[in-house]
Amino acid sequence: MNDIPFSDIAEHLNQRIEDLARELLGEPNNDLSTQIQLRYGTKGSIAIEINGSQRGRWYDHEQGIGGDGMEFVRARLGLANGAACDWARDWLGLPARSISTTPENTSPHQSKADTAPSPEISNKKPTMAEKVNKIVADGQDIEGTPAETYLRNRGIIVSPLPTTIRFRPNAYGRYGAAVGALSGELHGGANYEVMRMLLDIKTEDSVEPYIKEKFTKNERIMGMGHAVYKTVDPRSQVLKELSKKLSEKTSQPWYDITSKVEHVTAELMKKTKGVEIFPNVDLYSASVYYMLGIPMDLNTPIFAISRAAGWAAHIIEEKFAEAAPKPMLYRPKAVYIGKYAGSQGCKYIPIEKRIKK
Ligand SMILES: CC(C)(COP(=O)(O)OP(=O)(O)OC[C@H]1O[C@@H](n2cnc3c(N)ncnc32)[C@H](O)[C@@H]1OP(=O)(O)O)[C@@H](O)C(=O)NCCC(=O)NCCS
Repeated sequence: MNDIPFSDIAEHLNQRIEDLARELLGEPNNDLSTQIQLRYGTKGSIAIEINGSQRGRWYDHEQGIGGDGMEFVRARLGLANGAACDWARDWLGLPARSISTTPENTSPHQSKADTAPSPEISNKKPTMAEKVNKIVADGQDIEGTPAETYLRNRGIIVSPLPTTIRFRPNAYGRYGAAVGALSGELHGGANYEVMRMLLDIKTEDSVEPYIKEKFTKNERIMGMGHAVYKTVDPRSQVLKELSKKLSEKTSQPWYDITSKVEHVTAELMKKTKGVEIFPNVDLYSASVYYMLGIPMDLNTPIFAISRAAGWAAHIIEEKFAEAAPKPMLYRPKAVYIGKYAGSQGCKYIPIEKRIKK
């Protein structure tokens, strides 16, 4: 009779997350904390949602972990699931669990009442979130397993019954997705394809017939065109200069060939389709990487490395500035209205001044 469903205990913890945080971590960093979120550490790298729709969620941005109140207890105290649940009962002042020996109720965290559909949802078509919860509830074995940690660390709330499932990846997940999105010859893989094309062309004289044939076959010229820049891609201008300098320095033909590819393609586009087309970042970066001695297979990874600073900036902006309390999916047209990491007091410092002597 004493048994309280695991989901209720977890929910109690979420409701009392502020007290729980103070109990386990002490006083927060008051300069960085808000009414919605407590921040811990000098950089506020541990964030705990104490109010609003996310109450009970927490994230440790340095460790790349997070979850709900129960996960917080487990992570901070290093406890397995059962022990964390017992600790939570005690801390919340709830009666200790009664252990039944009946085969149907062998889990300390799950009574039959847990899995039975509640009266208010039994006549409704279950939502996807409810289905997931049921799968997890029925498969009790998931508790305390890496699968459960995986779900929780990704912000997928399985207890109590969620009305939404949120996905909020950690920094590693974000970088991984961004790297993956670069694959493919129409995107990040284009600089590899450009170099293959230049090696196929070999000489300046072969440029025109090569490009013409591509147009006849209705194939694309790699390194030309951009979905957003409908004028010159500013990055291509910088790389064009570098390609020229490197070609002169190393007496290689790649700048001249690339430049001719640019002009012949632009002319043919105008003539055949009546539109202007300009080089994108990949047209000249291909020869720059090549003349720097970078193996072609590493073109896209090198490009990704340079982008990592920008990706990190987005992550910092979202996690440490004012946008943090409300997780959202960023779309290209999203307008960021929070402070620019202002609460961290971040400001631009010229690189020379950043290097310690
Ligand atoms: C980047 C790219 C996908 C952007 O395309 P977009 O602006 O969305 O334009 P679309 O794909 O709708 O193409 C519009 C027209 O221009 C043509 N076109 C666009 N880029 C072209 C190219 N590089 N070579 C030849 N034709 C091209 C298309 O064939 C299409 O013609 P159609 O209307 O007769 O079918 C496209 O320019 C491309 O494929 N470029 C080559 C790959 C590349 O360098 N990618 C790296 C981008 S940073």
